[in-house]
Formats: sequence, structure tokens, C-alpha cells
Amino acid sequence: MQLSGTATINRKGHLEIGGCDTVKLAEKYGTPLYVYDVALIRKRARAFQYMFEKLGVKHQVAYASKAFSSVAMLQLVHEEGLSLDVVSGGELYTAIVANFPAEKIHFHGNNKSEEELKMALDHQIGCIVVDNFHELHMLHHLCQLKNQKVNILLRVTPGIEAHTHDYISTGQEDSKFGFDLQNGQSETAVALALESKFLNLLGFHCHIGSQIFETTGFLLAARKILGKVNEWKDIYQFTPEVLNLGGGFGIRYTDEDKPLPPEQYVEEMILEVKRETKRLALPMPEIWIEPGRSLVGDAGTTLYSIGSRKEVPDIRKYVAVDGGMNDNIRPALYGAKYDAIMANRADEKPKEVVSIAGKCCETGDMLIWDLPLPETETNDLLAVFCTGAYCYSMASNYNRIPRPPVVFVENGTSRLIIKRETYDDLVRLDIPYSEKTTI
Ligand SMILES: Cc1ncc(COP(=O)(O)O)c(C=O)c1O
Repeated sequence: MQLSGTATINRKGHLEIGGCDTVKLAEKYGTPLYVYDVALIRKRARAFQYMFEKLGVKHQVAYASKAFSSVAMLQLVHEEGLSLDVVSGGELYTAIVANFPAEKIHFHGNNKSEEELKMALDHQIGCIVVDNFHELHMLHHLCQLKNQKVNILLRVTPGIEAHTHDYISTGQEDSKFGFDLQNGQSETAVALALESKFLNLLGFHCHIGSQIFETTGFLLAARKILGKVNEWKDIYQFTPEVLNLGGGFGIRYTDEDKPLPPEQYVEEMILEVKRETKRLALPMPEIWIEPGRSLVGDAGTTLYSIGSRKEVPDIRKYVAVDGGMNDNIRPALYGAKYDAIMANRADEKPKEVVSIAGKCCETGDMLIWDLPLPETETNDLLAVFCTGAYCYSMASNYNRIPRPPVVFVENGTSRLIIKRETYDDLVRLDIPYSEKTTI
């Protein structure tokens, strides 16, 4: 398989990332261990911004922090000039602790609580992406109480089916997200937002899905939204300053995936929005996008130690690692596919085909089926690639297994950015049965 970013195989035959030998990283920090290639995150961040700058288009590239959020990660994203998309009070809190500039934070979610909206208003964040009528009314009233104005986008569902897994498609009409563009909901939301003295309607947002390998869906979504804008412009005397086309740019988990370069997604979006606004005589809006997976996905690698092995004669060889669905739920949840190599013998040719099992008490806890590897031995180090997005952020303590640590590697240096959980952390919130607690 093709290695990503700074990953290479060194003279000892070990996988090296960010100039750091992964065998040494495993010795220093233990396994399982998430390793992030910082140079690759920077490269991707710059690639998404490049075409906007080249073509002189006002923009915001907001990192969708649901993919992987931590204080250090958000500080890195800020260093690279990106904005930030958060979807919960917890993600917003992380951004605040990271000192992320509030005006560059956008708040998403289909069921934001009153407490979360108040928190967003208290911190005067840049924009709230309003998802439904309940939120629109609640936000108006909260702003009224505080006598405060807030910038909003309306999330619309343009009825586009992106070619992706059902569970991660969000742009079709039958979705829990957003105001429907076709059935009049979006127009009603526009009218309500414009009536409010407290809501400053900047424009529209849509997110058509995830792991998208073509530009057609994005362009169609842009055309549909601009078409409606054109219908509404004389009725409401309103044209959007911002068009947010969401995230969902695909990445290469295995050689089956053929992603486009970030620059291509962005360039085609820009050209389409320019063409369409010109055709409809609309002002050119700022274009915002929200990549998550494509900024961090292939920058992350998980290192595991190999433990037990079970052979079912003539059927399968199971090789178990010291992690699994706790640190990467995606294979069990979506049937997601991953690629891996033996990090401590990365220069050896495959000798057998094995299936990588996790250590959880679940038959479904399988990380990879049918992976060609050199003959494995206990304590060999397995590197599973492309685990930077939706792995740590979806990690759990199922079976009371502590979450692994996270390290950043860059220019031959590693730094711990999230510590390994301890058994004490696991029982930190537990209250013994013998203790009488009054709430
Ligand atoms: C509204 C919104 N924006 C951005 C993203 C990021 O998507 P991705 O990580 O596929 O780029 C998501 C993912 O679910 C989302 O729901």
C-alpha cells in the first residue's frame, strides 16, 4: 500500500512517521497509541485554503472538530489559519480552553440545548448554524433576553444523495438535519430569521454526506440553494453573504478509495458558485467549507501490540491486538475498511493472510478482515493507517478499557497531547453503593 504524508520505512525496517521510529514510540508511550503526522495535517490545511487564496475568493475553512478534538489539535488548526466547527457544548468548551478565537467558531447541531446556546452567546462565537424552528425561536428569545445580536446560517437539506454509506448521508430530504429546501420550510425559516431584530442571517449551510469522491453533489447543492435564493431575493430583499457547502471530502482508507485533491474540490466549487451567481445576477458570496476527516484522517495511525492468535483450520487465522472497537468503532459501526502493516518488520514481504481481532468481548470486534502480513508473532507492532478521524473522538470505555494516549510527531520529535487513561480515571465518577449521596 501507498504510505501517506511523512510515513516511510527506515533502515531498520521500521515504520517511521514524522521522523520518529514507531517502534521507539511504542516503547516510550505504550500501545495502543494514536500517532498524528503534524506535517500532513498542515499540508491538508494549506491545500484547502490554497485555491480560495489563488482565486481571490473570501472564505472560511472550518475544521469540523468532531473528527478529532483536543486542546492541542485545535491550537494546531488555529496556527494554520482555519476556523472551527463545533457541535456540542463539550466541543465548544475544548475550543475555549484552547483559546480558539471565538469569532472563528461555528456552532452546529440538530438539538442544541438552551444551555449550549447560552454558552455560545456568552462567548460571542462567530456564527450559529440554525438547524430547525425550535432552535430558531429559542435563539431569538435568548438573544432578546440578553439584548444581543448573533450571526446565523440556516442549515438546509437540498435533497442531494451523495454516493456514500447510508448512515453517513445527511443531505437527502429524509434527514434529521436542517430545513427542507423543497417543501417550503427553508423559505419560512428565512422569513422568520429576517423578522428577528436579533438574528443576523448571513446565509445558508448544507452538508451532503461524508467520504465523497466526486464534486457533482457539491455543485448540485450549490446550484439548488442559489436557485432558491434567486426565487426569494425580491420577496425578502435578501441575498446571502455566505454559502457554506459543508464537509465530506473523501480520503483513502484503502487502495479502493480514490479521493480528489482538496484543491480540486475547492476550485470546482468556486467556479460553479461564480458561474451560477453571474448567471442569476446575484452577488458572489463568501464560500465556507468544513472538512473534518480530510484534514486529519490519513494523518492518524494507531499502533497496536499483537497478542494472541487463533487458527480455525482451512478457514481463518485470527490475530488479536491490544485495542479494537474501543479505539476504532468504525469497522463495527459502518463496516469501514482499513489497511495496516507490521510496523517493526515493515520491509518484510507478506507470508500469510490474517484477520485482525480486537480485545473486546464482542464477536463483531474485528478491525480488519483478510490482511496480508509477514508471519506474526506475539509483541509484533501493528500499524493501522488512516485512524485520525472519528476514532479517538468516538472512542469508548466499553469493557472498562482505558482510552489510549495521542502523540503528535513532527521533524523527529514526538509530543504527548492526550494522556493514556488510567484505571483510576475509569472509576473517577463512580459512587460506591455504601456511600449515601443526596442530589
Ligand atoms: C455539518 C457537518 N459539517 C462537516 C462535517 C465533516 O465531515 P467530514 O469529516 O466527512 O469532512 C460533518 C460530518 O458529519 C457535518 O455533519
